[in-house]
Amino acid sequence: MPLLIRNGEIVTADSRFRADLYAEDETITHIGSNLDAPPGTDIVDASGKFVFPGFIDPHVHIYLPFMSTFAKDTHETASVAALIGGTTTYIEMCCPSRAEDALAGYELWKSKANGSSACDYTFHMSVTRWDPQTEGQLREIVRDGIASFKIFLAYKNFFGVEDGEMYQTLRLAKELGVITTAHCENAELVARLQQLLLSQGKTGPAWHESSRPESVEAEGTGRFATFLENTGAAGYVVHLSCKPALDAALAAKSRGVRIHVESVIPHLMLDKSYAERPGVEGMKHVMSPPLRHASNRKVLWDALQSDFIDTVATDHCPFDTAQKLLGSEAFTQIPNGIPAIEDRVNLLYTYGVSRGSLDIHRFVDAASTRAAKLFGLFPRKGTIAVGTDADLVVYDPNQRSTISVRTHHVNSDYNGFEGMEIDGRPSLVTVRGKVQVRDCQFIGDKTLGRMLRREPTWH
Ligand code: URP
Ligand code: ZN
Ligand code: ZN
Repeated sequence: MPLLIRNGEIVTADSRFRADLYAEDETITHIGSNLDAPPGTDIVDASGKFVFPGFIDPHVHIYLPFMSTFAKDTHETASVAALIGGTTTYIEMCCPSRAEDALAGYELWKSKANGSSACDYTFHMSVTRWDPQTEGQLREIVRDGIASFKIFLAYKNFFGVEDGEMYQTLRLAKELGVITTAHCENAELVARLQQLLLSQGKTGPAWHESSRPESVEAEGTGRFATFLENTGAAGYVVHLSCKPALDAALAAKSRGVRIHVESVIPHLMLDKSYAERPGVEGMKHVMSPPLRHASNRKVLWDALQSDFIDTVATDHCPFDTAQKLLGSEAFTQIPNGIPAIEDRVNLLYTYGVSRGSLDIHRFVDAASTRAAKLFGLFPRKGTIAVGTDADLVVYDPNQRSTISVRTHHVNSDYNGFEGMEIDGRPSLVTVRGKVQVRDCQFIGDKTLGRMLRREPTWH
């Protein structure tokens, strides 16, 4: 059914104007004043509301065997939660472990998503070891429409790569024009510090941050940057959490290294005092890199406004309370991750645009457009223009509410942002012109989502 959104305030990364917007056959076909609509058109009044391009979350985990358990969401639960929160496309980390075959892993991750997502999606392909098959398999995966790799400098012996494997991956990425995303922490130091703390009887979640201090993340970031510099590859630091790591990334950027930076909403909104809460309350806030000293939050918000941080993602990774309790005896056994896919946009809008000093165009850029540009989805995704996919978020800046596990849609029995107020929320969300969320409720097709094929752009 054609769709006409009337009289909304359209806001993109670089423009802001009031107009009507008409979409047909999945794409935006007209933008203008007083547009007519044929009979049978779904007409939506967006007066008093913003119309944003569908938001893109460039870092989520949905199917994830990790730390002796599995993340809780399916594509159905994650995509419905994403859409209610205004995210119309996500990029999932395809993460076969070091013991698994990359191509078999890729097929497995694809099969979990195929026909099961309500929104569009693609993958970053993790390279977790380098063996004689790896290069050929990665070439095949890129031919299948994947234009980004992922490496972990952390998680020794599970996801983590050695420096030689990072070098091989980046050489291939450079040749293929693929951008490589990286979790930057020094795996050896984390392993050593974990053992030291446990041997001293320091077993609770409050010690998680001490086992992965800021300097360990800064070292990983700097080393990744040095490898980018010496291979000429393009890179993207995921979930950067602290000033020393930011300084390392910016120093490389100033030398001309093609390095980009992501922060995630937990690091912008939370700090290590959450992980210091007693018992399971602390465990619920264990992720890696850890929640940091509160002083880092202002550094990250300022860097976001200044464009030193490119994107804001979630690192969505839901575990429930029972899973978190696997780490009762030792913080090293707490499954790492915090669910956030539903709340990212509302939190960024509220504490950035509404109550903070984040420019509304930077908000759209960081939560949508920049990811589309970096990861080969632009202009099909990430903006509002004639000819682009009609992924749209009609955002009501007057819908105040409070984040709670009682009302969220992710498959987890807690919400890490419990009790936080939000100043606005999506009232209507479309994916390729199909209304998936109306009046803030999911009313759509849970199988509508498609895998997005991407071409490498980083030659
Ligand atoms: O704690 C986190 N971040 N869990 C998910 C895995 C990762 O490192 O991204
Ligand atoms: Zn990570
Ligand atoms: Zn992650």
